[in-house]
Amino acid sequence: MHPAPEHMSTEEFRRHGRAVVDWVADYWDRVASLPVLSQVAPGQVRAGLPDKPPETGEPFTAVLADLDSILVPGLTHWQHPGFFAYYPSSTSGPAVLAELLSAGLGVQGMMWQTSPACTELEQHVLDWLAGLLGLPDCFTFAGSGGGVIQDSASSAILVALLAALHRASEGRVQTEGVDRARYRVYTSTDAHSALEKAARITGLGTAAVRFIGTRADSSMDPKALRTAITDDVRAGLIPVMVMATVGTTSTSAIDPVDRIGPICAEFGTWLHVDAAYAGVAAVCPELRWIQHGVADYADSYATNPHKWLLTAFDCDACYVRDRAALVGALSVVREYLRSNVSAADTVVDYRDWQVPLGRRFRALKLWAVIRCYGVEGLRAHIRHSVALAQRFATWVAADDRFELMAPQPLSLVCFRLRGADEPNRQLLQTVNASGQIYLSHTMVRDAFTLRLAIGGTATRDEHVTAAWDLLSSTASGLLGD
Ligand SMILES: Cc1ncc(COP(=O)(O)O)c(C=O)c1O
Repeated sequence: MHPAPEHMSTEEFRRHGRAVVDWVADYWDRVASLPVLSQVAPGQVRAGLPDKPPETGEPFTAVLADLDSILVPGLTHWQHPGFFAYYPSSTSGPAVLAELLSAGLGVQGMMWQTSPACTELEQHVLDWLAGLLGLPDCFTFAGSGGGVIQDSASSAILVALLAALHRASEGRVQTEGVDRARYRVYTSTDAHSALEKAARITGLGTAAVRFIGTRADSSMDPKALRTAITDDVRAGLIPVMVMATVGTTSTSAIDPVDRIGPICAEFGTWLHVDAAYAGVAAVCPELRWIQHGVADYADSYATNPHKWLLTAFDCDACYVRDRAALVGALSVVREYLRSNVSAADTVVDYRDWQVPLGRRFRALKLWAVIRCYGVEGLRAHIRHSVALAQRFATWVAADDRFELMAPQPLSLVCFRLRGADEPNRQLLQTVNASGQIYLSHTMVRDAFTLRLAIGGTATRDEHVTAAWDLLSSTASGLLGD
């Protein structure tokens, strides 16, 4: 009989746990002094790690020591107040503490029975969030639909496509697979690449994806969508799904869901609304206009509280209007997954709402965030970010050397130096190498464009002011003025 391994005792856990919480709090206190973009060379982190794992256990203090010396230099600090790249991944005290609780509970909530609280809290919190976002009852468990936490917006897009294929094929796709030659999906040229990935995963292939042109503000052109679908239907093809975006990755453009929706309704096409970054802004009543059309037309909708709503990565809130289509697409029940409550159809088994079987207790962190901030606290975070972005945009607009490249309805500002791309590339490279700020870029109307996205938990007025000062003075150096 082999002896049981030596586990960390609960006393040791208390001691190290306190040290870890202190470590995280100290990290948040000092992160602004670290270079936001990691400055390590490729391979440097691995070179600092031993070739082989230890034969005998080491103290946890050794793990923390290596975290400081080897890993922290290799981090790009997403919680740095000067992190303006991509979209934020904002975390917060309540979210991190709830993650610790989730890990400590070690619950795997694949079915209602494997932890009723895990399932019912998720149902309840997502119903709360639906109300906060102004989504109608049909997206909640009070109606025909409901919400589920996915790891990411990409997973939400994949399951939406699977549900759409299930509906379009009247369930045949389950046994026959996809009719690649006949099915088509549609999105704008500015939409996220996740739909192409989903098309590959489902076996449709990227040839099934039709990219619809955009209007001057980079939003999907509904007339072009209608033309594309009409032509396809005439050719005997089946328009399975349209993905509209509320807040594109590139410029935060908002597709006209209220005009796209009626086209989908006319052709029986599933409408998925990808609001990964922007959707959470609808917690503010004055910003709810971004969802215009969602309530009336969307079949599925997803937004990421892990981006701009203070809920540590990963947490995507994914809603469907008709849960039967999603469950129909994904439910495969073997004997070992059967239970009396499931058979009686009185509970939700979230294993049928996602790709993996197993699932973490993610609802805890969203619950903790909503409770500890309160609705007003969440609104304050969104409003603060939007106000900072609007101010930054006024500075760009007032400086003749720069131009704004897209409208900034929320907290993303797209801008560039007028003229050639090269000075803009240099500007981005120079400010990012400074360690003080980190911006990313995109192409807008074929011009290299800088993106400044606000929404990090620690970002304040002074950080945005400092960012503009650095951009402006670096531009002066580059332009020689
Ligand atoms: C509009 C949009 N959709 C989808 C995604 C993908 O998000 P995720 O990383 O959650 O899959 C992003 C990421 O920034 C996004 O901006």
